[in-house]
Amino acid sequence: MANIVIVGTQWGDEGKGKIVDLLSEHADVVVRFQGGNNAGHTMVVKGEQFISHLVPSGILQGKTCLIGNGVVVDPQVLVEEIAYLREKGVDTGPDKLKICEKAHVIMPYHKELDHSREASKGKNKIGTTGRGIGPCYEDKASRKGIRFTEFIDPEMFKDKLENEIEEKNFLFENLYSKSKIDTKTIFESYSALAEMLKPYVTNVSVFVSNASKEGKQILFEGAQGTHLDIEHGTYPFVTSSSTVSGNACCGSGVGPKQISEVFGIVKAYTTRVGAGPFPTELFDEDGDTLQRVGAEFGATTGRKRRCGWLDLVILENAVRLNSLTGLVITKLDVLKGFKTIKICTAYDCDGEILKHFPSNLNKLAKCKPIYEEVPGWDEDISTIRSYDELPDNTKKYLKKIEDILETPVSIISVGPGRDETIVVSNPYAT
Ligand code: GDP
Ligand code: IMO
Ligand code: MG
Repeated sequence: MANIVIVGTQWGDEGKGKIVDLLSEHADVVVRFQGGNNAGHTMVVKGEQFISHLVPSGILQGKTCLIGNGVVVDPQVLVEEIAYLREKGVDTGPDKLKICEKAHVIMPYHKELDHSREASKGKNKIGTTGRGIGPCYEDKASRKGIRFTEFIDPEMFKDKLENEIEEKNFLFENLYSKSKIDTKTIFESYSALAEMLKPYVTNVSVFVSNASKEGKQILFEGAQGTHLDIEHGTYPFVTSSSTVSGNACCGSGVGPKQISEVFGIVKAYTTRVGAGPFPTELFDEDGDTLQRVGAEFGATTGRKRRCGWLDLVILENAVRLNSLTGLVITKLDVLKGFKTIKICTAYDCDGEILKHFPSNLNKLAKCKPIYEEVPGWDEDISTIRSYDELPDNTKKYLKKIEDILETPVSIISVGPGRDETIVVSNPYAT
């Protein structure tokens, strides 16, 4: 039995959706454990593209998909996503999709606050997705949030909402010069959403535990990436949840003994969307090539992603913080045609050589990447399905990553499609 956690190792958009979809073939249950619809996970099956923001990426393989307690759920977005998938012929009924009763609900005022906060920060803004993620997690931490268990109970929902809105209206009126929001309007429209989602609500911890006892295999789907983690990322330019593998347990209600493997998804170069430090960012033709060939546009907001070379300093951080047991290298096909490819192996910070990612942003700003340059390849690798057939230079690139990170490459992705993949070792097959 293998229960695998999938996490992003960089700043998100590494290709987690594709890999979760691929591995779901062998899993019985797929659980999202943090984040919300700030995530945009892309799956391409037989040429058709699907983007999910909340529904776990195991849904196309017909697996039971769970939204764990650690996720913040916008009910409006979830209802729309259920309909979008259903229209595409995907079963999204309550037998296939479940939401934890302890998951927190994103309300309209969270989205409004997200926008107001960002606008008030001016040039210091984080560049959030504007989906209300931060304000919802804030309410959770300050013990004012509304969980699904209260959301689907009209009396409790009304009570909580009234208390909540009083404080939010004070902020809107006095701090952000916005008009007040109306409790009655929100209560009515959101009660309708609660009614629609009620059949999906369950206790995810109990569900996963029972599935495990029956010998079922669980796949935990992370969102965002290690360097957007609220604890370990480039704070304050981070998201509001913990994105590392340890949170797979807390965010779905299982203990650490349930986890057998942790796969880190590594894009073959680096991207970042939104503001914040990015030591290997490129502002030249190479950066433009990565952006264009990699079609680097955000799956949630459509924003252009910033691009740069692979950074092994951040990846060392990711290996350690997540206890990675395997690496999944994605978008390797995008590197075709570069005469040489650069890999950052350390930072030079005013003459001091750093191998570990610094926490202090002023220090980080002074860091210059130290690169090793390796030869590139001209062959189209997107049709290759076995490691041995890869060009020698591609193998050398992968070997260097493996050697420096002391972690094996388990899967290589050479195109967006489910089948455009080289599986070196499948943890479900052992
Ligand atoms: P996620 O948030 O980690 O699930 O990643 P996104 O879906 O936001 O972004 C990854 C993008 O790269 C999507 O458009 C995928 O279809 C695409 N993609 C994934 N793997 C590969 C790959 O190996 N090669 C190419 N060319 N595209 C890929
Ligand atoms: P997936 O799961 C890339 C970024 C935003 C912003 C910061 C905070 O698709 O990899 P938030 O709305 O979370 O408060 O924004 O985090 N961000 C992501 N970047 N991929 C994501 O998810 C992201 N989710 C949030 O751009 O910089
Ligand atoms: Mg994404």
